[in-house]
Amino acid sequence: MLTSVNIFSFFFQRRFCPCSDHSSFRHLLHLHINCISFEIRKQVSFFAEQFSCFLNILYTCYKKTQSEILDRFYFIVKINEIYFTGGADYFSSPGGTLKKFMTDISKKLLLILLILFLFQTNCNAVDNVKFAVISDPHVSMPADGITDDFKMGLHSVEFLENTIKDVNTIEDLDFVIFLGDLTKDGEPWNVDKFSEIMSDLKVPSYVILGNHDQSVITQTGKACLPGVSKETMVWALQGHGFNGPSLWWSADPVPGLHLIGLDTNILGTWSGTISDAQLKWLERDLSSNRDIFTIVLGHHSIIPFSKEEEQTEHWQSFYMEKGEKLLEVFEKYKNISFYLSGHRHVSTRAVEHNGIYHIVHPSTSTYPMRYTIYELTEEYLTYEVKNVPMDKETWELAKKNFFTFGTGFWRGTDMTDTSEGNKKYLDYYESNETLKAKFPLRSGNIKGL
Ligand SMILES: [Fe+2]
Ligand SMILES: [Fe+2]
Repeated sequence: MLTSVNIFSFFFQRRFCPCSDHSSFRHLLHLHINCISFEIRKQVSFFAEQFSCFLNILYTCYKKTQSEILDRFYFIVKINEIYFTGGADYFSSPGGTLKKFMTDISKKLLLILLILFLFQTNCNAVDNVKFAVISDPHVSMPADGITDDFKMGLHSVEFLENTIKDVNTIEDLDFVIFLGDLTKDGEPWNVDKFSEIMSDLKVPSYVILGNHDQSVITQTGKACLPGVSKETMVWALQGHGFNGPSLWWSADPVPGLHLIGLDTNILGTWSGTISDAQLKWLERDLSSNRDIFTIVLGHHSIIPFSKEEEQTEHWQSFYMEKGEKLLEVFEKYKNISFYLSGHRHVSTRAVEHNGIYHIVHPSTSTYPMRYTIYELTEEYLTYEVKNVPMDKETWELAKKNFFTFGTGFWRGTDMTDTSEGNKKYLDYYESNETLKAKFPLRSGNIKGL
C-alpha cells in the first residue's frame, strides 16, 4: 500500500514540480501535491482524505472560474502548511506525548471537516443565487425634443439612478441584468450616461441591446438626434456580457449558472427576429454547456404572455419573427427553464410554454416604473417586483402621462379612453396579481440536468 502511494506521489511530483511561474495555477497545484507527498511519508491513513480533497479540487476546476479555484487552492495550501508545521514537530520530536498525539488527531479532523465543508458548499454553488433585472431605462439626457410623456424622458436618468441605489442595498446580490433599450436611441451622450450610472453598481452587470440602442433614423425616415450603431454600443459595453465584437454573448456570472444574451433587434423596425448566424452559435454554445443551468435573455418576447396579446394584431411588434426557431432549440436542452425579455413595458408577468417560463419585465422609465429581484435555488426560481423609488408627485405625473400619452399600440383594442377601458389598461400594465411568483425548474432540480 505504502509503495503504491509513493508511486502515486512520485508521479504527481514529476508531473507538476517544474513550474516556471510561481503565481500560476499549476504552481498552486504543485504546492498542494507537495503537501500530499509530505503527508504520505508520515501517515498513509491521512492520504485518503487528502486524495478525496484533491478529487474535489479537480471537480471544482471543472465547475468553477479560475480565480475562484485559485482562491480555494491558496486556502487549502495554507491550511496544510499550518497543519504540517505542527505535525512535523510531533513526528521529529522524541518527546512526543499521547496528549500531543491526540491534539494532532483533533487538528486532522478539523482540517478534514473544513475541506469537506468548503467543497461541499461550493459544489452546489448555483443554489441561492440572487440577481436583479432592470429593463428599458431609455436614458435620455436633457436635449431638444426630450420631454416627459409616456416615456418619462426628463426623469429617466433620475429613475435609473434611484433604481441602482436601491439595488445596491440588496443583501447577497450576485449580479444585475439589463434587458435592453438602455438609451433613448443610442445617442453617444446617453450611452456614456448609462455606462456611468451602471458603473455605480456594487456587483457585476450584464446587458443586452434593445431596438432603441441604435440610431432610429431608419425607423422614422427623418433626421433625428445622432445615434450610434449596434456595433459601437457593443464596444462601449465590453465586460458586461459582451466580450469582443459579437452582438450576442454567453457568460457564467456565478459558478453553475450560464447566461445567454441574444440580439433580437432589426435595423429599421421596432420588431424583433433571430438571425440564422445567431441560431447556429446558440446551438454550439448550448451543446457545450448542456450540464449547466441556463437562462436566456432577449429584448423581444417570443410568444404572447396573455390572451389579450394573442388576440391583438397591432401588438405583433412586441414579439419576434422566427421565434418558433428559438423555441425548437430551447426544447432540446432541458437545462433551459427561463427566457427573460423586456420591450413591452408592462409589469413582470410570465407564461409557461412546454415547461419553459417566458417572463417579461417592466420599464424603469414608464408607468409603473419597476424592477425585479430573482432568487434561484436548486428547485425553484422566485421573483419579487419593486417600485423604482421616487417622490409621490413624480409618481403621479408618470401615471397621468401613462393615460394621456399612452395611445396607439400601447393600448389593446378594448382599452379605450373610457372609464372601463382605462381600468383595463391600468390593470393590464400594473399586473398587480403578479408582483411575486415562484416557478419550478423544467428538469425538476439543478442536479437533474
Ligand atoms: Fe423600451
Ligand atoms: Fe424595445
